[in-house]
Amino acid sequence: MKRVLFVDDEPHVLESLRDALRPWRRELSMTFAANGPTALDELALEPYDAVVSDMRMPGMDGAELLREVQRAQPATVRIVLSGYAEIESVARAATVAHRFLSKPCDVDELVSVIRRSCDINSLVEQDELRDAASGTGRLPSVPRLYSDLTRMMNDPDASTSDAARLVEQDAGMTAKVLQLANSAFFGRTRQVSELDDAISYVGLSTLKALALSADAMEAFQPAFEIEGFSIERLQAHTDLTARIVRRLVTAGCDGDTAVAAALIHDVGILVLASRAPDYLAAVLERAEREDRPLFEIEQDERGFTHADVGAHLLGLWGLPPAIVEAVAYHHRPAAAHGPTMGAITTVHVASVLADESVLKLDMGHLERMGVTDQVARWREIAAAEQEEDR
Ligand SMILES: [Fe+2]
Ligand SMILES: [Fe+2]
Repeated sequence: MKRVLFVDDEPHVLESLRDALRPWRRELSMTFAANGPTALDELALEPYDAVVSDMRMPGMDGAELLREVQRAQPATVRIVLSGYAEIESVARAATVAHRFLSKPCDVDELVSVIRRSCDINSLVEQDELRDAASGTGRLPSVPRLYSDLTRMMNDPDASTSDAARLVEQDAGMTAKVLQLANSAFFGRTRQVSELDDAISYVGLSTLKALALSADAMEAFQPAFEIEGFSIERLQAHTDLTARIVRRLVTAGCDGDTAVAAALIHDVGILVLASRAPDYLAAVLERAEREDRPLFEIEQDERGFTHADVGAHLLGLWGLPPAIVEAVAYHHRPAAAHGPTMGAITTVHVASVLADESVLKLDMGHLERMGVTDQVARWREIAAAEQEEDR
């Protein structure tokens, strides 16, 4: 039984949650609190698996509450449930919440997010990943260049040349940034050779994601060789996905967000490789044998996938919600309920086109987005980028 605490200052919101969640009362033990301080009193009495909080509340708002929850019970899953008009306060909660859901919310989706988040939490339980991520223990797994860049960007006077000074200390990263900037110039004559230019071209979110993925590839080395898994192949796949995204991005989609998400969309596979290598080996073997995509097998086996694991980790590390969501939904974009072709759909399309022998585009979803006439052109772009790798 999972213990979940719901917090909202509007009584009718709590009432309707209570009603809608009644069918799950054998699985979820639910408590309802009308404000932050009451919620913290409840938490002091007994531990909770998850806290689901409103953002805008008088007195202590959702961001403050979740920060307190993080301090008091770092292992508790922290979910924000907020209205569309609360974008600004949601940004404030970006570093303390694991997941973001919007009101009015689909109860099935809410329960499934609670369930998956709690399951992933137990997957990473008792290891330094969660201690590091929740800030209570040693910090070896928090990527260093990534946190240096984050610190630097918090300084309003920081410029791309400050970022360049940090990056240039790492030859591998420098090469990657230049490569990425230049691949976007595919077919053009001008080459980007200065790191400063390359950084301003790729954008700071992308730069941070690049640092994160490079560090994660190193930090999450599996303890033994896993049949059917190779870090190099995964790296090549995410690089290719990012390059395809770069060329698919159109008006209405934040390119920096989409490319950043593409670079780290499969980071969950790395987490599984290092934390649950036997499990990863088993699901890879089954995927191969049944000729089905990995995420489907994972869904069958445990009810969550590497996309959930990756999103959870990135949420813990405080990445922006837009990136976390694009990672979470890269295999099932329709579940994200996005109204337009944004980062989520773009990352889905690119990651599938990077590996269409196994994966399939969600055509129903693309139809609802009104973009099926683009698919042929996208395939050409993907083929051209794939050609570059040969
Ligand atoms: Fe994936
Ligand atoms: Fe992928």
